[in-house]
Amino acid sequence: MCGIVGAVGNKDIVNDLLTCLYNLEYRGYDSAGVAVQLDNSVEIRKVVGGIKSLENLIKNEPISGRCGIGHTRWATHGAPSVRNSHPISNPTVTIVHNGIIDNYTALKTELIALGFEFKTDTDTEVIAHLIELYAKKGYDPFDAVTEAAARMDGLYAFVALFHAHENKIFGYKHGAPLIVGIGNDVMYLGSDAIALSAFTKKIVYLEDNECALLDNISYKICDEHGNEKNKEVREAVAGSGVSIGKFPHFMLKEIMEQPQVLARILTKYISDSSYKITFPNVDIDYTSITSVKIVACGSSYYSASVASYWIEDLIPVNVSVDIASEFCYRSQNICPNCLYIFISQSGETADTLASLKRVSASGAKTLSIVNVEESSIARLAQYNILTQAGAEISVASTKACTAQLMVLALFALQMASSRGDITDSELKSKILQLQQVSDLVYEVLVNEKKMDDIASSIANHDRVLFIGRGDTYPVALEGALKLREISYITAMGIAAGELKHGTIALVDEGTPTIVLAPYNNLFSKTVGSAQSIHARGGPIELLSSDAGVEQLSSMARNFFILPHSDFFSTPIIYSVAVQLIAYKVAVLKGLNVDKPRNLAKSVTVE
Ligand code: AGP
Repeated sequence: MCGIVGAVGNKDIVNDLLTCLYNLEYRGYDSAGVAVQLDNSVEIRKVVGGIKSLENLIKNEPISGRCGIGHTRWATHGAPSVRNSHPISNPTVTIVHNGIIDNYTALKTELIALGFEFKTDTDTEVIAHLIELYAKKGYDPFDAVTEAAARMDGLYAFVALFHAHENKIFGYKHGAPLIVGIGNDVMYLGSDAIALSAFTKKIVYLEDNECALLDNISYKICDEHGNEKNKEVREAVAGSGVSIGKFPHFMLKEIMEQPQVLARILTKYISDSSYKITFPNVDIDYTSITSVKIVACGSSYYSASVASYWIEDLIPVNVSVDIASEFCYRSQNICPNCLYIFISQSGETADTLASLKRVSASGAKTLSIVNVEESSIARLAQYNILTQAGAEISVASTKACTAQLMVLALFALQMASSRGDITDSELKSKILQLQQVSDLVYEVLVNEKKMDDIASSIANHDRVLFIGRGDTYPVALEGALKLREISYITAMGIAAGELKHGTIALVDEGTPTIVLAPYNNLFSKTVGSAQSIHARGGPIELLSSDAGVEQLSSMARNFFILPHSDFFSTPIIYSVAVQLIAYKVAVLKGLNVDKPRNLAKSVTVE
């Protein structure tokens, strides 16, 4: 999604802006630009494509200045083009923006009636013209920014550079992330700490409706009424040392990091001597919880779905799992005795954040499970558990998902044990099982070459099905999502038992099905589904353990043997297997694995 940066200092800041933009590339974007202040005007350079192209353009058409702003754009309003890319300017102000102005059509109509001319298809231009409108009415820059913001609905953040006010930049946050970075001789604004990580770790996090004013030596943060806020300066933990190392893609690097990540989570949250699970600062009284409601998007939603099986298996409470974009606007009562859990890798996903805001406003208990410590979701939720996966760069989430699963397993055990739903010895035995997971994942990864046959068998197909049952059903959904997002193959995840209720009509010789068949209590049921696919000539690509492969291999075109697994480890190791399939297929197809088309890492628009 769009990334925004700003810098003002006592030196030329163009290279700093480019570095920040390079650091924002992981979010996904299709065009980029920078603007620097020049006397009473600005110089702007914009390109469709990557930051490298922007850097080349600046080499050919140099700009320099001590105050500037920059942007990576993920198109929402208007196609990716130089015209629609940011910064967006009028004679008074130049803007970079992240998020969506929901009422932009009405505002645009009003501004056109007042004589403003629109040169882009973006909602961003509305911000620039509104600010100009108020500036022309005699408002000072701060008031023009806050008055414009007061007119706009939606979730957004923007940074403004006023042409007539040298060496000052203004940032306003309303729903989308925005931070101030305190450098040695430069002050920065940015979408996240990763953007600024090359220059500073000293970060001030803006809250909604706060406005930051930066000049080359200081910063000031005010609420929308102009009251100055005394904000804590925090040390950023995210963003340092994210390098691709020896790997061809971040996705492969992140897949391969999973054994260490899973082991790290256990070390962090379990005291070895007593087999006690402790999440710092999470002191929820679980005995009063009547049900658990989990809200998330994409892969995080599938992690939540796996956890719903685990929690209901261990604890006599109902668990519901909602897609955040649906939860947000569904009429329902927020229940005071429920625990609401919000899961997000980035901690910035707009739909999940909006759902959290809705629940928080009701006063119900909220717990976030996020990977980015200082993210908006982590800061807003009452309680927070970090997934400890380390920075994840590839758009396709891998290690962050298995880290979510591990944390959710620990959460389920802690909740069950604190309510007396499992005994201490049951807790200890489950923890001992969890301590094997890292080795099991390692075993899958050292055998990754054996996944090549499955990958090459499906790479040329347009349509692929994934089936699974029980807690492996959400893994089938996750496998299909992974394949869709990085291989652009139409892939569907289906509950194995649901196949006969319609989707089996898709089965034919040209439609392979990846059958997730752990050798557990549901294995024989999965065999039935596999048989009905085989009987109709559908090629089967089998994922199972030794015992399962022995029974099913005669039906399968290819198979991959996974280690024998148990309660918690099954969905985790099958997740790793489907990640490998998606990765290998994308590589075979020669696609941009880490930055698939149309997608963004951090989805900060609703
Ligand atoms: C995962 O591979 C996807 N890129 C995507 O579905 C992602 O999981 C979703 O956007 C949610 O993101 P979050 O975990 O950062 O909230």
